[in-house]
Amino acid sequence: MTLKHPAISSKAPFMLHGADYSPEQWLKYPEVLDEDIRMMKLAGCNVMSVGIFSWVSLEPEEGVFNFEWLDELLDRFTASGIYAFLATPSGARPAWMSQKYPEVLRVERNRVRNLHGFRHNHCYTSPVYREKTKIINTKLAERYADHPAVIGWHISNEFGGECHCDLCQAEFRVWLKKKYDNNLDTVNHAWWATFWSHTFTSWEQIESPAPHGETQVHGLNLDWRRFVSDQTINFCQHEIDTVRSYNPEMPVTTNMHNIDGIDYREMSKILDVISWDAYPSWHFTDDGDDTNLAAWTGFHHDMFRSFKNKPFLLMESTPSLTNWQSVSKMKRPGMHKLSSLQAVAHGSDSVQYFQWRKSRGSSEKFHGAVVDHCGHEHTRVFGDVAEVGKVLAELNEVVGTSTPAEVAILFDWDNRWAVKDAQGIRNSGLKYEETVIQHYRGLWELGIPVDVIGSSDELAPYKLVIAPMLYLISEENGRNIEQYVENGGTFLATYWSGVVNETDLCHLGGFPGPLRRTLGIWAEETEGLHSRDVNGLVLEAGNELNLTGDYEAHEIAELIHLEGAETLGTYQSDFYAGRPALTVNRLGEGKAYHLATRVKENAFYTELYRAITSDIGVQPVLDCELPVGITAQVRTDGEQEYVFVQNFSGTAQAIELDGRSYLNMETGKPAAPKLELPINGLAILKRSAH
Ligand code: GLA
Ligand code: ZN
Repeated sequence: MTLKHPAISSKAPFMLHGADYSPEQWLKYPEVLDEDIRMMKLAGCNVMSVGIFSWVSLEPEEGVFNFEWLDELLDRFTASGIYAFLATPSGARPAWMSQKYPEVLRVERNRVRNLHGFRHNHCYTSPVYREKTKIINTKLAERYADHPAVIGWHISNEFGGECHCDLCQAEFRVWLKKKYDNNLDTVNHAWWATFWSHTFTSWEQIESPAPHGETQVHGLNLDWRRFVSDQTINFCQHEIDTVRSYNPEMPVTTNMHNIDGIDYREMSKILDVISWDAYPSWHFTDDGDDTNLAAWTGFHHDMFRSFKNKPFLLMESTPSLTNWQSVSKMKRPGMHKLSSLQAVAHGSDSVQYFQWRKSRGSSEKFHGAVVDHCGHEHTRVFGDVAEVGKVLAELNEVVGTSTPAEVAILFDWDNRWAVKDAQGIRNSGLKYEETVIQHYRGLWELGIPVDVIGSSDELAPYKLVIAPMLYLISEENGRNIEQYVENGGTFLATYWSGVVNETDLCHLGGFPGPLRRTLGIWAEETEGLHSRDVNGLVLEAGNELNLTGDYEAHEIAELIHLEGAETLGTYQSDFYAGRPALTVNRLGEGKAYHLATRVKENAFYTELYRAITSDIGVQPVLDCELPVGITAQVRTDGEQEYVFVQNFSGTAQAIELDGRSYLNMETGKPAAPKLELPINGLAILKRSAH
């Protein structure tokens, strides 16, 4: 395994720091560009993402192009040692295009075509939109693919959404014919369409889900989501094809976000570098404890890194507040540095923002930016950004280093879609993502690195694989997991797993379907609980994990029978008191745990994973006790290890380090054995890997 990857661009082999930059909004204010470049240097910024929504400034009329401002900008950047991710402008289209070619506009679920406006409001199937994109992308590539300032393509912006126009409907049918060997009977069976007489007798009858039409055929819903994802990826590929050949060395990325409509794991396959936009609402809780949100953010950093198992880019984050959260709070002292470096700790080789300068008007005029409307650098936020610039400049040796993990969490897009679409045990809230994060948080609290993978990814590299609520699983993926355990892997599943197959048909013969032999249990019944229904998980005396005490069980409970597994904990109350709630099964060389109910306390997951990881010899980053809300993450090139200790607890903390010798990378001095971490504090420590 390579532990040191080349920098994302050989032109800029250092930690990248910068922002989205839209100088085309300021062409009537010629002094702004000079000022911006001066302040970029002051803030320690070395990269800007440009051209993101610039289509009308580049092609003001159909076929009439204007590159003057961009030429000047990129040349000024070159002269100033600033680099650029150059965007294709397809994230928003000019009005002339919508006016002349209405087919480029999106049709919503209700089958009404949108008017021109907003952004991301276009059809990914439209041949006109594809052609227009190809023309502008080609022009950009011809002109700038070899520009010394340009270090990568930023394809479009946050792909997302879906279109229900006739072109998309036709393409959906083509997609289905390909998937189901042109056999409508196969489709009907895969979707269980006989139910309510929904059987299709001609391909033309198949339509995307609609609020005033079909929503109840879950297999159809699932395939529609897969199609939308595939079609979006196909559009992205179309864009990449238009620019790639002009400079095959130029890396390609597109900025991802928390959009659950695209299977980002699939999308990552066509990209050279993964980048994502992180906007956690820090300081949300009353007591200042940001632990849960930090775990959520850490999970996402890990997921985006895991797609390619190499460094990614934090393409956007806010230097202060946003303009779209229900309440937008300023980042409290320390939080900008802490949250920025959190990304680096999990494998990012950049800290980038939306946006460099606040726009003067329109929707994002109050979104946080490095430069505020006051126009100068003497602001608190600018100071925070400049401080991050300084720290990043000290971390250039971290560029390209890896974050090896021995534990993986399974997180599949089709499972995510299917589990939330099903009507069943808890329509008031299944909390799939929250559950995944709760498991992740247990490991994050212990400072144990985690990869986030799909169930068809290779499992063998991991000592422990955790699959919370793996509701949808194919027979094949079930066999992979079984083999993984037989070969010595450790696996953990929960309630509501192994329920449906890849087309959303229930597994027959008993749940958890293809995981039944692995887990050594049969889940006979699963129920949702009201928030007032409280049960408990009581750990059995002398259980092999040495877990003790009892915890609150809530929201979901499953009645299981042992089929080879042993009981580690039981239910506390109700008619199923005393029945197994936590089990372990031995299979071949490995072990498989099953948690039959949702446990409320976060501490349970920390204790559970502490016990399991110590049983199988997984090492935490620091061999010492971490208080709640503190995590340690590591990056390494195989020789040196860079340990990022982060305090999200909302209170000042101190930890006794584990006795190894550490260098504090910010002071350049040896670290004291006792590490003091103020509120929102962070320490970047270096130690030898040997
Ligand atoms: C997204 C977009 C940006 C900007 C930010 C605001 O991430 O990509 O263009 O709108 O949100 O937070
Ligand atoms: Zn369409």
